[in-house]
Amino acid sequence: MKKQPEVQVAPSLLSADFSRLAQQVKWLDAAGAKYLHIDVMDGSFVPNITFGSCVIKALRKYTRALFDVHLMIIDPLKYIDVFSDCGADLVTVHLEAVSANPGIVLDAIKKRGKKAGLSIKPKTPAENLYPYLPYIDLALVMRVEPGFGGQKFMPEALPKIEKIGSRIRTNGFNCLLEVDGGIDETNAAQAVSAGARLLVAGSSVFGKKDPKKAYLGLMKTANAVKKGAQKRRV
Ligand code: DX5
Ligand code: ZN
Repeated sequence: MKKQPEVQVAPSLLSADFSRLAQQVKWLDAAGAKYLHIDVMDGSFVPNITFGSCVIKALRKYTRALFDVHLMIIDPLKYIDVFSDCGADLVTVHLEAVSANPGIVLDAIKKRGKKAGLSIKPKTPAENLYPYLPYIDLALVMRVEPGFGGQKFMPEALPKIEKIGSRIRTNGFNCLLEVDGGIDETNAAQAVSAGARLLVAGSSVFGKKDPKKAYLGLMKTANAVKKGAQKRRV
């Protein structure tokens, strides 16, 4: 069996051409993308509205990629069933949106047989995520304020990625570290060196003339970095 690359790039649909989503998803499938990052925004948790479960469901048949659904919504507990039913493989909620009951929300995701992720915004300290690292499948560190694609990443996010990456490695937690916001050819290696194993890339893939080529270029750059061992669950 072909060996899987250690680092994966998850193209983010937010920067795709919405008038031909199916075609763009098919391109990435043909390029071998293992993940597709799907940003769901409600206009309340973040100042933008994207799409909901019906769009995700419609795209499911066009790709074998795992659907990495990033919920930027308030009260995600209400929608775990909806997003599980529409084809999500990983469901990530924001710690800031579930601070009263993170365990209940993560359990609800797992009960539906999905991988459970927890995300933190740039201003939330790394330490807030620590208690959940043994339990979650994915930790998503935002390098921009969530809401929009195409923003420049905040360099102060790097020490946070390092801290969380090292915490995962030293404890042998089975948790995938994903980073989101401003990833491109010039800084992908830096994120991987800091410990990231899943890189979300929106404008640096779908914003390019040839998204397939851009995706493959990022995969090459990310996997050229020398990395320490990290257990993988997803
Ligand atoms: C922003 C989203 C990101 C976005 C990243 O709130 O969570 O996933 O698509 O876009 P780029 O890669 O352009 O920063
Ligand atoms: Zn995202």
